[in-house]
Amino acid sequence: MEFGPNVTVFNHPLIQHKIAILRDKNTNTKMFRELVAEITALMTFECLKDVPTRVVTVETPLETCPQTMVLENSVAVIPILRAGLGMVNGVHMLFPTAHVGHIGLYRDEKTLEPHEYYCKLPDGIEDKLCILLDPMLATGGSVNAAISLLKNRGCLNIRLMSIIAAPEGIKNVVKEHPEIKVFVATCDRQLNENGYILPGLGDAGDRLFGTK
Ligand code: PRP
Ligand code: URA
Repeated sequence: MEFGPNVTVFNHPLIQHKIAILRDKNTNTKMFRELVAEITALMTFECLKDVPTRVVTVETPLETCPQTMVLENSVAVIPILRAGLGMVNGVHMLFPTAHVGHIGLYRDEKTLEPHEYYCKLPDGIEDKLCILLDPMLATGGSVNAAISLLKNRGCLNIRLMSIIAAPEGIKNVVKEHPEIKVFVATCDRQLNENGYILPGLGDAGDRLFGTK
């Protein structure tokens, strides 16, 4: 409850184990990508536990019974480019019908301010549960900008999933968008003077896509 009732910090040992390997500077791109997807899938299980459902009738080999299923078309995942892309497969492992929107933001290296360069959202986004994906929540500037953009498009039901967060970033998101449910796998110590999370894992985009 350190950050209030809308923030969930997973301290689950299975997630922590994967984060240990993810942080390691010797973990290669292939392994890094797989771990990001696996951690996201584990988080999705909790984040979507109240996803809209419907009841269908199923014929088993023995009899007919009512059974709950998730409501298709009710969820959209919105990765923040680039690094959020690495989390999409993790959601799709559990919820394959989730539609995907993309928001392109890059952080100015000096000012740390986010700049939007792309936005393409699924039709009917305003009626969907929108799960914003970004593995790194540093100052919170990028996520706050993405949430504001979604709100301007009429989205009322927005959640955030991040893998590693800085306390500063969580506090900024809660301050600017207090009603948003935030799910972070782990909360690190602090930001450094360049806005990188410590101990963190370095640059998530570069590690996912092998660009450095
Ligand atoms: C990284 C990361 C977040 C952002 C976090 O993206 O993936 O989107 O920085 O920082 P913030 O919380 O201080 O805004 P970056 O801008 O490096 O772009 P990239 O994913 O294309 O590498
Ligand atoms: N973006 C990253 O990829 N890593 C950080 O530590 C901060 C922002």
